[in-house]
Amino acid sequence: MNIVKAENLTCPIDGEPLACHNKQMQCPQGHAFDIARQGYVNLLPVQHKRSKHPGDSKEMVLARTHFLNSGVYKIIADKLAELTCAQVSNNSAACILDAGCGEGYYLNVIFDYLASAAGETRCSFIGLDISKPAIMAAAKRNQQISWIVGTNRQPPVAAASVDSIICVFGFHSFDGFNEVLKSGGKIILVEPGPDHLIELRKIIYSEVKKSEPADLSYLEEKGLFLFDKQSLHFKTGLLNNEQINNLLLMTPHFYRATQQGREAAENLQQLDLTVDVVVRVLEKKNIQPL
Ligand SMILES: C[S@@+](CC[C@H](N)C(=O)[O-])C[C@H]1O[C@@H](n2cnc3c(N)ncnc32)[C@H](O)[C@@H]1O
Repeated sequence: MNIVKAENLTCPIDGEPLACHNKQMQCPQGHAFDIARQGYVNLLPVQHKRSKHPGDSKEMVLARTHFLNSGVYKIIADKLAELTCAQVSNNSAACILDAGCGEGYYLNVIFDYLASAAGETRCSFIGLDISKPAIMAAAKRNQQISWIVGTNRQPPVAAASVDSIICVFGFHSFDGFNEVLKSGGKIILVEPGPDHLIELRKIIYSEVKKSEPADLSYLEEKGLFLFDKQSLHFKTGLLNNEQINNLLLMTPHFYRATQQGREAAENLQQLDLTVDVVVRVLEKKNIQPL
Protein backbone atom coordinates (compact mmCIF):
# COMPACT_ATOMS: atom_id res chain seq x y z
CA MET A 1 0.00 0.00 0.00
CA ASN A 2 1.09 3.60 -0.44
CA ILE A 3 1.42 5.82 2.60
CA VAL A 4 0.35 9.45 2.28
CA LYS A 5 -0.05 12.28 4.80
CA ALA A 6 -3.57 12.93 6.12
CA GLU A 7 -5.20 15.85 4.31
CA ASN A 8 -8.53 15.83 6.15
CA LEU A 9 -7.61 17.62 9.39
CA THR A 10 -9.91 20.49 10.32
CA CYS A 11 -9.77 23.59 12.48
CA PRO A 12 -11.13 22.80 15.96
CA ILE A 13 -12.59 26.31 16.17
CA ASP A 14 -14.62 26.60 12.96
CA GLY A 15 -14.34 23.16 11.27
CA GLU A 16 -12.69 24.59 8.14
CA PRO A 17 -9.97 22.52 6.41
CA LEU A 18 -6.41 22.91 7.67
CA ALA A 19 -3.42 23.21 5.37
CA CYS A 20 0.30 23.26 6.15
CA HIS A 21 2.06 26.63 5.87
CA ASN A 22 5.67 26.65 6.99
CA LYS A 23 5.61 25.27 10.53
CA GLN A 24 1.91 25.78 11.11
CA MET A 25 -1.45 24.34 10.15
CA GLN A 26 -3.83 27.11 9.15
CA CYS A 27 -7.49 27.37 8.20
CA PRO A 28 -8.86 29.88 5.65
CA GLN A 29 -10.17 32.05 8.53
CA GLY A 30 -6.61 32.49 9.81
CA HIS A 31 -6.69 30.20 12.86
CA ALA A 32 -3.15 28.82 13.13
CA PHE A 33 -1.72 25.87 15.05
CA ASP A 34 2.00 25.28 15.47
CA ILE A 35 3.54 22.02 14.31
CA ALA A 36 5.69 21.07 17.30
CA ARG A 37 9.37 20.26 16.87
CA GLN A 38 8.49 16.60 17.48
CA GLY A 39 6.02 16.71 14.56
CA TYR A 40 2.63 16.64 16.33
CA VAL A 41 -0.06 19.37 16.29
CA ASN A 42 -2.14 20.51 19.22
CA LEU A 43 -5.75 20.93 18.00
CA LEU A 44 -7.31 21.06 21.46
CA PRO A 45 -8.51 24.62 22.15
CA VAL A 46 -9.04 25.58 25.81
CA GLN A 47 -12.81 25.60 25.31
CA HIS A 48 -12.66 21.83 24.57
CA LYS A 49 -10.64 21.09 27.74
CA ARG A 50 -12.36 19.96 30.91
CA SER A 51 -9.18 20.11 32.99
CA LYS A 52 -5.77 21.76 32.75
CA HIS A 53 -3.95 18.53 31.83
CA PRO A 54 -6.58 16.21 30.35
CA GLY A 55 -6.00 12.52 29.66
CA ASP A 56 -3.21 10.25 30.77
CA SER A 57 -0.27 11.65 32.72
CA LYS A 58 3.38 11.44 31.71
CA GLU A 59 3.92 8.61 34.24
CA MET A 60 1.03 6.57 32.83
CA VAL A 61 2.29 7.12 29.29
CA LEU A 62 5.81 6.01 30.20
CA ALA A 63 4.50 2.89 31.96
CA ARG A 64 2.33 2.02 28.93
CA THR A 65 5.24 2.50 26.52
CA HIS A 66 7.47 0.16 28.55
CA PHE A 67 4.73 -2.44 28.92
CA LEU A 68 3.58 -2.43 25.28
CA ASN A 69 7.14 -2.40 23.93
CA SER A 70 7.75 -5.67 25.80
CA GLY A 71 5.34 -7.26 23.28
CA VAL A 72 2.83 -8.74 25.75
CA TYR A 73 -0.15 -7.29 23.80
CA LYS A 74 1.30 -7.87 20.30
CA ILE A 75 -1.46 -10.43 19.61
CA ILE A 76 -4.05 -7.65 20.03
CA ALA A 77 -2.11 -5.28 17.76
CA ASP A 78 -1.73 -7.97 15.08
CA LYS A 79 -5.47 -8.70 15.16
CA LEU A 80 -6.20 -4.98 14.69
CA ALA A 81 -3.76 -4.78 11.78
CA GLU A 82 -5.34 -7.80 10.10
CA LEU A 83 -8.89 -6.43 10.53
CA THR A 84 -7.94 -2.94 9.31
CA CYS A 85 -6.13 -4.34 6.28
CA ALA A 86 -9.15 -6.43 5.32
CA GLN A 87 -11.38 -3.35 5.61
CA VAL A 88 -9.33 -0.99 3.44
CA SER A 89 -7.51 -3.20 0.94
CA ASN A 90 -10.15 -2.84 -1.78
CA ASN A 91 -10.33 0.96 -1.52
CA SER A 92 -8.34 3.31 -3.74
CA ALA A 93 -7.71 5.54 -0.70
CA ALA A 94 -8.29 5.05 3.01
CA CYS A 95 -7.93 7.09 6.18
CA ILE A 96 -7.37 5.27 9.47
CA LEU A 97 -7.99 7.10 12.75
CA ASP A 98 -6.89 5.77 16.14
CA ALA A 99 -9.15 7.64 18.55
CA GLY A 100 -7.56 7.73 22.01
CA CYS A 101 -4.33 6.35 20.55
CA GLY A 102 -2.29 6.80 23.73
CA GLU A 103 1.42 6.58 23.02
CA GLY A 104 0.81 5.16 19.56
CA TYR A 105 1.80 1.50 19.90
CA TYR A 106 -1.23 -0.01 18.14
CA LEU A 107 -1.44 2.51 15.28
CA ASN A 108 2.26 2.07 14.63
CA VAL A 109 1.88 -1.72 14.34
CA ILE A 110 -1.09 -1.21 11.97
CA PHE A 111 0.98 1.28 9.96
CA ASP A 112 3.87 -1.19 9.55
CA TYR A 113 1.50 -3.97 8.53
CA LEU A 114 -0.33 -1.86 5.92
CA ALA A 115 2.89 -0.27 4.64
CA SER A 116 4.21 -3.73 3.77
CA ALA A 117 0.88 -5.11 2.46
CA ALA A 118 0.41 -5.57 -1.27
CA GLY A 119 -1.96 -3.26 -3.14
CA GLU A 120 -2.33 0.28 -4.43
CA THR A 121 -4.48 1.76 -1.63
CA ARG A 122 -3.30 5.25 -0.61
CA CYS A 123 -3.41 5.08 3.20
CA SER A 124 -3.25 7.98 5.65
CA PHE A 125 -3.05 7.63 9.42
CA ILE A 126 -4.21 9.91 12.23
CA GLY A 127 -3.49 9.25 15.92
CA LEU A 128 -5.67 11.38 18.20
CA ASP A 129 -5.44 11.67 21.98
CA ILE A 130 -6.40 14.29 24.52
CA SER A 131 -3.17 13.74 26.48
CA LYS A 132 -0.24 15.88 25.33
CA PRO A 133 2.38 13.60 26.95
CA ALA A 134 0.82 10.62 25.10
CA ILE A 135 0.99 12.37 21.72
CA MET A 136 4.55 13.56 22.39
CA ALA A 137 5.54 9.93 23.00
CA ALA A 138 3.59 8.75 19.94
CA ALA A 139 5.37 11.26 17.70
CA LYS A 140 8.66 9.51 18.53
CA ARG A 141 7.34 6.23 17.12
CA ASN A 142 6.55 7.29 13.57
CA GLN A 143 6.86 10.60 11.70
CA GLN A 144 4.59 9.53 8.83
CA ILE A 145 1.51 9.38 11.05
CA SER A 146 -0.36 12.63 11.82
CA TRP A 147 -0.33 12.78 15.64
CA ILE A 148 -2.89 15.19 17.03
CA VAL A 149 -3.73 16.40 20.53
CA GLY A 150 -7.52 16.63 20.41
CA THR A 151 -10.72 15.15 21.71
CA ASN A 152 -12.78 12.19 20.55
CA ARG A 153 -15.87 14.27 21.35
CA GLN A 154 -15.13 16.59 18.42
CA PRO A 155 -12.38 14.97 16.34
CA PRO A 156 -10.70 17.73 14.27
CA VAL A 157 -11.21 15.70 11.11
CA ALA A 158 -13.49 16.41 8.10
CA ALA A 159 -16.99 14.94 8.20
CA ALA A 160 -17.37 11.58 6.41
CA SER A 161 -13.65 11.31 5.61
CA VAL A 162 -12.50 8.31 7.69
CA ASP A 163 -12.68 4.65 6.65
CA SER A 164 -11.62 2.93 9.90
CA ILE A 165 -11.71 4.19 13.47
CA ILE A 166 -9.81 2.19 16.06
CA CYS A 167 -10.54 2.66 19.74
CA VAL A 168 -8.50 0.44 22.07
CA PHE A 169 -9.38 0.47 25.79
CA GLY A 170 -10.32 4.04 25.00
CA PHE A 171 -12.79 6.73 25.67
CA HIS A 172 -15.35 6.38 22.89
CA SER A 173 -17.63 9.12 21.70
CA PHE A 174 -19.96 7.58 19.14
CA ASP A 175 -21.39 10.95 18.05
CA GLY A 176 -17.90 12.24 17.32
CA PHE A 177 -16.95 8.98 15.55
CA ASN A 178 -20.15 8.90 13.49
CA GLU A 179 -19.57 12.44 12.29
CA VAL A 180 -16.14 11.72 10.78
CA LEU A 181 -16.83 8.17 9.54
CA LYS A 182 -17.72 7.52 5.88
CA SER A 183 -20.85 5.57 5.08
CA GLY A 184 -19.70 1.93 4.96
CA GLY A 185 -16.80 2.79 7.29
CA LYS A 186 -16.01 0.70 10.36
CA ILE A 187 -15.29 1.29 14.03
CA ILE A 188 -13.10 -1.32 15.73
CA LEU A 189 -13.52 -1.36 19.50
CA VAL A 190 -11.25 -3.30 21.83
CA GLU A 191 -12.63 -3.66 25.35
CA PRO A 192 -11.91 -5.83 28.38
CA GLY A 193 -13.88 -9.08 28.63
CA PRO A 194 -15.04 -10.63 31.94
CA ASP A 195 -11.77 -12.47 32.68
CA HIS A 196 -9.39 -9.72 31.61
CA LEU A 197 -6.42 -9.55 34.02
CA ILE A 198 -8.51 -11.57 36.47
CA GLU A 199 -5.48 -12.78 38.48
CA LEU A 200 -4.36 -9.19 39.10
CA ARG A 201 -7.89 -7.97 39.85
CA LYS A 202 -8.27 -10.68 42.49
CA ILE A 203 -5.18 -9.29 44.21
CA ILE A 204 -6.06 -5.59 44.10
CA TYR A 205 -9.81 -5.67 44.82
CA SER A 206 -11.68 -7.18 47.76
CA GLU A 207 -14.48 -8.15 45.38
CA VAL A 208 -14.12 -8.88 41.65
CA LYS A 209 -16.98 -8.17 39.27
CA LYS A 210 -17.00 -9.99 35.94
CA SER A 211 -18.85 -8.01 33.31
CA GLU A 212 -19.33 -8.13 29.55
CA PRO A 213 -18.78 -4.96 27.51
CA ALA A 214 -21.90 -2.78 27.30
CA ASP A 215 -24.63 -3.62 24.78
CA LEU A 216 -24.35 -1.24 21.82
CA SER A 217 -27.58 -2.05 19.97
CA TYR A 218 -28.88 1.45 20.86
CA LEU A 219 -26.40 2.76 18.26
CA GLU A 220 -28.43 1.23 15.42
CA GLU A 221 -30.70 4.26 15.44
CA LYS A 222 -27.60 6.35 14.70
CA GLY A 223 -26.72 4.04 11.78
CA LEU A 224 -24.01 2.01 13.57
CA PHE A 225 -24.58 -1.76 13.33
CA LEU A 226 -22.62 -4.67 14.80
CA PHE A 227 -20.67 -6.23 11.91
CA ASP A 228 -18.31 -8.63 13.71
CA LYS A 229 -17.47 -9.73 17.23
CA GLN A 230 -14.47 -11.79 18.31
CA SER A 231 -12.84 -12.68 21.61
CA LEU A 232 -9.12 -12.81 22.13
CA HIS A 233 -8.18 -15.00 25.07
CA PHE A 234 -4.56 -15.78 25.91
CA LYS A 235 -2.07 -16.00 28.78
CA THR A 236 0.76 -13.50 29.03
CA GLY A 237 3.29 -15.99 30.42
CA LEU A 238 5.14 -14.97 33.58
CA LEU A 239 5.40 -11.19 33.89
CA ASN A 240 8.11 -9.75 36.12
CA ASN A 241 7.70 -7.15 38.86
CA GLU A 242 8.43 -4.22 36.51
CA GLN A 243 5.90 -5.39 33.91
CA ILE A 244 3.23 -5.94 36.56
CA ASN A 245 3.73 -2.45 37.95
CA ASN A 246 3.76 -0.82 34.51
CA LEU A 247 0.55 -2.64 33.64
CA LEU A 248 -1.08 -1.52 36.86
CA LEU A 249 -0.02 2.10 36.38
CA MET A 250 -1.26 2.28 32.78
CA THR A 251 -4.81 1.19 33.67
CA PRO A 252 -7.60 2.76 35.74
CA HIS A 253 -7.11 -0.16 38.17
CA PHE A 254 -4.23 1.78 39.73
CA TYR A 255 -6.63 4.45 41.00
CA ARG A 256 -9.53 2.12 41.75
CA ALA A 257 -7.53 -0.49 43.71
CA THR A 258 -7.53 -0.55 47.49
CA GLN A 259 -4.34 0.74 49.11
CA GLN A 260 -3.68 -2.76 50.47
CA GLY A 261 -4.31 -4.31 47.03
CA ARG A 262 -1.98 -1.87 45.32
CA GLU A 263 0.79 -2.63 47.79
CA ALA A 264 0.32 -6.37 47.32
CA ALA A 265 0.57 -5.96 43.54
CA GLU A 266 3.61 -3.69 43.82
CA ASN A 267 5.44 -6.45 45.71
CA LEU A 268 4.58 -9.30 43.35
CA GLN A 269 7.68 -10.85 41.83
CA GLN A 270 5.89 -12.65 39.01
CA LEU A 271 2.41 -13.32 37.70
CA ASP A 272 0.89 -15.16 34.72
CA LEU A 273 -2.11 -13.16 33.56
CA THR A 274 -5.18 -13.92 31.50
CA VAL A 275 -5.86 -11.47 28.68
CA ASP A 276 -9.52 -11.54 27.70
CA VAL A 277 -10.55 -8.85 25.25
CA VAL A 278 -13.61 -8.41 23.11
CA VAL A 279 -13.11 -6.97 19.64
CA ARG A 280 -16.27 -5.54 18.09
CA VAL A 281 -16.57 -4.04 14.63
CA LEU A 282 -19.41 -1.61 13.96
CA GLU A 283 -20.38 -0.63 10.43
CA LYS A 284 -21.92 2.70 9.49
CA LYS A 285 -24.95 2.31 7.25
CA ASN A 286 -27.19 4.92 5.74
CA ILE A 287 -30.53 4.84 7.49
CA GLN A 288 -33.67 6.43 6.14
CA PRO A 289 -35.28 8.95 8.52
CA LEU A 290 -38.72 7.73 9.68
C1 LIG B 1 -6.62 3.39 28.61
S1 LIG B 1 -5.80 4.54 27.58
C2 LIG B 1 -5.64 3.63 26.06
C3 LIG B 1 -4.59 4.18 25.15
C4 LIG B 1 -4.32 3.33 23.89
N1 LIG B 1 -5.50 3.17 23.09
C5 LIG B 1 -3.76 1.98 24.29
O1 LIG B 1 -4.55 1.04 24.46
O2 LIG B 1 -2.55 1.89 24.45
C6 LIG B 1 -7.08 5.71 27.20
C7 LIG B 1 -6.58 6.90 26.38
O3 LIG B 1 -7.70 7.75 26.08
C8 LIG B 1 -7.26 9.09 26.18
N2 LIG B 1 -8.46 9.93 26.32
C9 LIG B 1 -9.23 10.14 27.41
N3 LIG B 1 -10.24 10.97 27.10
C10 LIG B 1 -10.13 11.28 25.78
C11 LIG B 1 -10.86 12.10 24.88
N4 LIG B 1 -11.93 12.78 25.26
N5 LIG B 1 -10.45 12.18 23.61
C12 LIG B 1 -9.34 11.51 23.18
N6 LIG B 1 -8.60 10.74 24.00
C13 LIG B 1 -8.99 10.62 25.27
C14 LIG B 1 -6.30 9.07 27.35
O4 LIG B 1 -5.43 10.19 27.36
C15 LIG B 1 -5.57 7.75 27.13
O5 LIG B 1 -4.42 7.91 26.32
